[in-house]
Amino acid sequence: MNTQARQSANTGLAFGYAQTRAYSFELIRGLSAEDCQLQSMPDASPLKWHLAHTTWFFETFVLGALPSPPDPVDPRYRVLFNSYYVGIGERHLRAERGLLSRPSLEEILHYRKQVDHQMQELLAHPAQLAPLTELVTLGLQHEQQHQELMLTDLKHHFSCNPLHPAWRDRAPEQPDERAATQPVTFRTFAGGLCDIGAPAGGFSYDNEGPRHRVWLEPFQLAERNVSNGDFLAFIADGGYQRPELWLSDGWDWVCQDHAACPLYWQHADQQWQLFTLAGLQPLNHAAPLCHVNLYEADAFARWSGGRLPTEAEWEHAAQNAPDLAGLFGQVWQWTNSAYLPYPGYQPASGAVGEYNGKFMINQMVLRGSSCATPAGHSRNSYRNFFPAAAQWQFSGIRLARDS
Ligand SMILES: [Fe+2]
Repeated sequence: MNTQARQSANTGLAFGYAQTRAYSFELIRGLSAEDCQLQSMPDASPLKWHLAHTTWFFETFVLGALPSPPDPVDPRYRVLFNSYYVGIGERHLRAERGLLSRPSLEEILHYRKQVDHQMQELLAHPAQLAPLTELVTLGLQHEQQHQELMLTDLKHHFSCNPLHPAWRDRAPEQPDERAATQPVTFRTFAGGLCDIGAPAGGFSYDNEGPRHRVWLEPFQLAERNVSNGDFLAFIADGGYQRPELWLSDGWDWVCQDHAACPLYWQHADQQWQLFTLAGLQPLNHAAPLCHVNLYEADAFARWSGGRLPTEAEWEHAAQNAPDLAGLFGQVWQWTNSAYLPYPGYQPASGAVGEYNGKFMINQMVLRGSSCATPAGHSRNSYRNFFPAAAQWQFSGIRLARDS
């Protein structure tokens, strides 16, 4: 890269840094310090913790890699805001993040400003920045990932409050259009030898590569995601009471949780309501179904005579039929693929290599992106992953079937 091209790339990175950091702050606009302190379950972290942890990531992995790293803003934060990086050292217990009333939200925002100042210094010095550009980019992608988690977690926190607090006036989960849902139609794909995985150039996480060949039998993929109305028909047909529709683990989950509807659905006064980021709202039958786990997605697919797509089928379809409705920006779509390394996968070296690879056990892949995913954080090869029972993510269903 010549000097001019490098300067222009650095300016882009500095701009991206400012934009991404500002958006995290925008997400807490209108929220109180008490709102940002909540932790409703071990899986859902306080917003305050997300704001601190994303800052810790830059302080630890980027500034900490400088030949003369600046002094840490507060050495105690190294443990408090380390999520799961064993290579970095001790971690505060995940389930007890909500107990951290100190440092205060104000102190966390001050921490962000101090690290931002140090990062801006770095971003203004091309020679120092050059060996760290990939780590800065990773830090920005990491912060975007947490921006979605902030909304995911806030929704769960707020759902536990009988006052039904609203984050915003409009619910991103229920777009205004209330057009009647058309029956699901399917697109046919011939299959054969296909390439999947991140292509060269542009950012991708290490788990999206290497790009490699897979063999696909002919298959069909639904032209839209399953709607709330579609899922109501499953409930009305006794879907939650019929063990023959469920995987064994899924049926155990139904029985233990007394599951009878998706997370955030409530039935009162003979109508269904939905808890959203804009509070409690009447269920929009045309909106994409959201907050189902893998078990519910699989049972619905079986009931409907279809199945869930594999992640390779989903990616091949996204490459070749980008006009399919709702691939991105509605709900993450469960696949029936276990989250495993691609052939030839190599995690990054050092502690940052713990980002993805060590979670390749007991999780299933979701594809696409959701209404809570920040702009610019979606791509065909993106592999999201969660345990099969997870419902609190913005997760939905796109059906597939054999051709
Ligand atoms: Fe993280």
